This record gives sequence, structure tokens and C-alpha cells, in this order.
Amino acid sequence: MHYILAFSLLLLQQTVAQLSGSVGPLTSVSSKKATKTCNVLDYGAKADKETDLGPPLTDAFTACASGGLVYVPSGDYLLNTWVTLSGGTAWALQIDGIIYRGGTNGGNMIYIEHASDFELFSSTSSGALQGLGYEFHVDGNISGPRILRLYKVTDFSVHDLILVDSPSFHFSMDTCENGEVYNMAIRGANEGGLDGIDVWSDNIWIHDIEVTNKDECVTVKSPAHNILIEDIYCNWSGGCAIGSLGADTDISDIIYRYIYTWSSNQMMMIKSNGGSGTLENAVFQDFIGHGNAYSLDFDSYWSSESTQTGDGVTYKNITFTNWHGTEANGAKRGPIRVICPDEVPCTDITISDWAMWTESGDSQTYTCRSAYGSGFCLRDDSGGTSSYTTTSTATAAPSGYSAATMAADLADSFGTTASIPIPAIPTSFFPGHTPISKLAGSS
Ligand SMILES: *[C@@H]1O[C@H](CO)[C@@H](O)[C@H](O)[C@H]1NC(C)=O
Ligand SMILES: *[C@@H]1O[C@H](CO)[C@@H](O)[C@H](O)[C@H]1NC(C)=O
Ligand SMILES: *[C@@H]1O[C@H](CO)[C@@H](O)[C@H](O)[C@H]1NC(C)=O
Repeated sequence: MHYILAFSLLLLQQTVAQLSGSVGPLTSVSSKKATKTCNVLDYGAKADKETDLGPPLTDAFTACASGGLVYVPSGDYLLNTWVTLSGGTAWALQIDGIIYRGGTNGGNMIYIEHASDFELFSSTSSGALQGLGYEFHVDGNISGPRILRLYKVTDFSVHDLILVDSPSFHFSMDTCENGEVYNMAIRGANEGGLDGIDVWSDNIWIHDIEVTNKDECVTVKSPAHNILIEDIYCNWSGGCAIGSLGADTDISDIIYRYIYTWSSNQMMMIKSNGGSGTLENAVFQDFIGHGNAYSLDFDSYWSSESTQTGDGVTYKNITFTNWHGTEANGAKRGPIRVICPDEVPCTDITISDWAMWTESGDSQTYTCRSAYGSGFCLRDDSGGTSSYTTTSTATAAPSGYSAATMAADLADSFGTTASIPIPAIPTSFFPGHTPISKLAGSS
């Protein structure tokens, strides 16, 4: 009891230190519900997977937009027309049913903007949005609709919701503030362009999320400040990243910790090609990886991005610590790549408490370019910071590299041509950890 209390206090202190203030809605769901409840069934919706949910959902929102709970009860719904829910205050959207995509337009299936004191959740942890993206992907189209986008939303949370098979990105947060996103499963097809969570916002806490896809797991874009991302399970994904970064990059105070990555493109990528501005004060700690192509892939000459205006992004005060596990092939893609801009070398980079080893062959490489700081191939900046490139090869496994695996690691991807089943939200997102907040449906 005392231990749990002390631990919670410690957690709270660390959280508060990273974030710039409190996150989440200002009013509880029960008080919103008591103010007014707008059940979509009273506005013409039918749980028959035939009637378009779009107009009833918009009407229910209009009725509850100045305070209340918009409620989608359990059952199967069809969404033919996308909804833009703009300008709500002190409201919540409770999705206990499953909403299937019917329409084929681009855009966003659900777009929430200019909202404050907002909560989007499922009380059973089984509400879901099923994008049926395979109907697009089978023809090679990744430009269909996105499932969910929040724009200029403040004091909010999104939780206990499942997003499946988006035709395009699953969930983006653009210019939001003071948000908490947690207890979610996102499962998409095995192809690029189907991002899990993308965030460019201020003061956001994202935790206890599982992503399956073949692109961004949980990714920070510019501008962003005070973002804490923890207990993330990239279960056959592209992996987490920051980028792509371009001109006027403005990112600071980012922590990723307790990140478990299985069979992904990388454990963490920082990506740019030219550009300007700054990424500073970032920490990447407590990472476990298995079966990934790259591990730490910090690439400021990223060839998949066209060259951006500027000599390069200034990267400073970035720490990578406590990384363990194995990579697929360390001779082909070494577990440490820190490639900084020659014109603007990175400074104050730290790699410490790091042990990873290759799953095939018996060597692995560490590559550094124009990167200054301490650890592995990084150079000390006491003699100035000119450009350089160096690669070293290790031929013996470092001690203590082995790390736990998750029992539920996916044995294969979901491909791109068949319908993807709706998963349950897992009860652990990192070895030995349980969710910071209990799943809503568990009580
Ligand atoms: C892909 O889907 C979008 C959204 O329906 C559509 O606008 C676009 O024309 C499609 N592209 C191709 C190549 O079919
Ligand atoms: C470096 O980043 C860490 C972590 O964000 C921060 O606590 C520290 O104050 C930064 N140091 C400087 C000199 O800004
Ligand atoms: C990882 O993905 C596989 C396949 O989807 C699934 O069976 C497993 O439950 C997932 N893991 C978790 C913790 O959800």
C-alpha cells in the first residue's frame, strides 16, 4: 500500500516534470452526462450497419456541443458521410459500438476541431472504428480517408478506443494542447503511409498504446513541446520516429521511455534531410527491441525525404540510454547510426547503458557522422566540431544485451488484401508493466 502510494507520487512527479502542466479534460464524464446526454439513437441512428451514422452523430453533437455526453451505444454502425465536430466545450464522445467505414471519400472519417474540455472514449474498452482499408489497399491506394484527426483541441483525452485498418493515417493530433492519450490498440495493414499516431502539439502525455502497421508507431512532428510518450508496444510496425523534419524545426522537451519494438523498421528514427531550426532536450530511455531492421537510426541525410531548405537541423542535448535486445542483422544494419549534418554537427549527444546484439551473423556496426558527445563512436567536442564519419565493428556480443519479449508478439503481418480483425486492447504494453490507468472496461 505504502509502496504503491510512494510509486504513484514518484510517477506523478516525473510526469509533472516533463509535461508543462496538467493534461486531460477539466470535467468528468459523469458530470457531462448529468448536464445532458445526446444518444445518437434519438437522432435517427440505427445499430443495423446500414443506416448512415454521419447525420445523426452530427445532430447529437450539435445538441450537446455546449456541454454534455454524445453517446454511441454498443452495436454495429455504418459511417457513409464523414463528420466534422467543431467548437464543442465540456463535451465527451462515448463510442461503445463499432463504427464501420461505408463512404469512400478522402479526408477524415471523424474530425474534431476547436474543442475544449473534451473526452473521446469507450466505457467498455471495446468501442472501435473499423476503416476496412483493405478495400483501398488491394488496389494499391493509400490515399483514402484517415480515421481520426484532432485539430486545435485543448484539455482533452482519448482512451480505451480501438482503431483498425485505416485506408490512410489512423490518428493525428495537430496543434493541440494539454492532452492525454492512453489504452488504445491500433492495427493497420502491412504497408507504408498508414501511420499509427502522429502528434505535433504541446503538453501531451501518450501512454499504453499498441500499434501494428508498417509505418509510424507513435511519431512526433514539428512543432512540438513537452511530449511524454511511454509504455508503447510497436507490435510489427514501422517503429517510433521524430520527423520528417524540414525548415524551421521547433521541437523540445520530448521523452520516450519503456518502448518495446518487435519486427519493425526501427526502434527509433530521427529523420531529416537539410532543413533548419532545432530539436533539443530529448531523452530516449528504457527501449527493448527484437527482430527489427534498424535500432537507433538517426539520419539527417534521409534519402526518402527530398532535400529541404537549410544547412540542416540543429540537434543538441539528446540522450539514448538503457537500450537492450537484439536486431535482425547487425552487419547489414548496425544498431547505432548517428548521422548528423556536416554543416551543423550534433552536440551533447549521449549514448549510455546500451547493449544490443545481432540475431544473425557474428558482428555489428556502429556509425557516427558529425556527431559530438559521449558513447560508442561519438566524438568529444573539446577539439571543436568539424565534420567526420566513422564506423566501427563489434565482433563479440556485449554483456547483458538479452531482454524480455512480449508473449503476444505477432508471428506475421496482416498483409494488405484481406479484412483485418478488430483486436482487444492488451493488458500490457511493455514487459512487466501494467497500464498506468486501468482499462475502462476492466471494472
Ligand atoms: C484513392 O482513394 C481516394 C479517396 O477515395 C480517391 O480520391 C483517389 O482518387 C484514389 N486514388 C486512386 C489512384 O484510385
Ligand atoms: C538537456 O535535456 C534534459 C532532458 O530534457 C534537460 O533536463 C536538461 O535541462 C537539458 N540541458 C540543457 C543544458 O538544456
Ligand atoms: C500483437 O499482435 C498479434 C497479432 O495481431 C496479436 O495476436 C497480439 O495479441 C498482439 N499483442 C498484443 C499484446 O495485443
